[in-house]
Amino acid sequence: MPTNNKPRILVFAGSTRKDSFNKKLARVAAESAQKTGAEVTLIDLKDYEMPLYDGDYEEAQGLPEAASRLRKLFFDHDGLIIATPEYNGSLPAVLKNAIDWLSRKQGDEPPLACFRGKTALLLAASPGALGGIRCLAHLNIILSGIQVMVLPEMKSVPQAHKVFDDQGNLTDQNLQQSLDKLTERLSTVIRSIQATNS
Ligand code: FNR
Repeated sequence: MPTNNKPRILVFAGSTRKDSFNKKLARVAAESAQKTGAEVTLIDLKDYEMPLYDGDYEEAQGLPEAASRLRKLFFDHDGLIIATPEYNGSLPAVLKNAIDWLSRKQGDEPPLACFRGKTALLLAASPGALGGIRCLAHLNIILSGIQVMVLPEMKSVPQAHKVFDDQGNLTDQNLQQSLDKLTERLSTVIRSIQATNS
């Protein structure tokens, strides 16, 4: 893990949809994290398309190329910001599938190596009234189980079709401020972990 005291944060949405509300939220969160002094990488899972996890595929070919690329990105960052939709009360398959592939062993690295020691901020956006809060609970359990430290502060954004302007910026300043507090918290926690490890 990098220890240069500048938090490196990887940001992505759990949706590959072009007009995804969660992609908008991920971009706004990335800009917010940048303001905390972090080095931020914003990616689109659409650029990391991988087949559904299949043990026979893995045995024959190892990790798909996109999973290897994404895994390397995880290694290169201290923190994660994930903005995800909720599908039927839980997380979308595209996100779970990526987590499953990344959790596998590659080369000399043991399973879960790319998750170990990461700190994550979880966000969700939905046009619905609950904002995807049930998904956040599931994602928290999954990531905590694979050695990611998930910040207890999470944010679900209801009525997501009403909260962005045409440029994709948040129209509600209270929402922007609470997001800024969360990204500040993420960077602070990462910095204190770096200080402890150095
Ligand atoms: C949904 N949606 C949804 N919303 C929600 O708040 N709770 C839910 O359980 C579900 N379930 C669900 C299942 C499936 C299969 C789909 C396709 C959609 C609606 C969902 O929040 C909406 O489509 C969002 O716009 C998806 O997120 P993005 O792509 O805009 O980021």
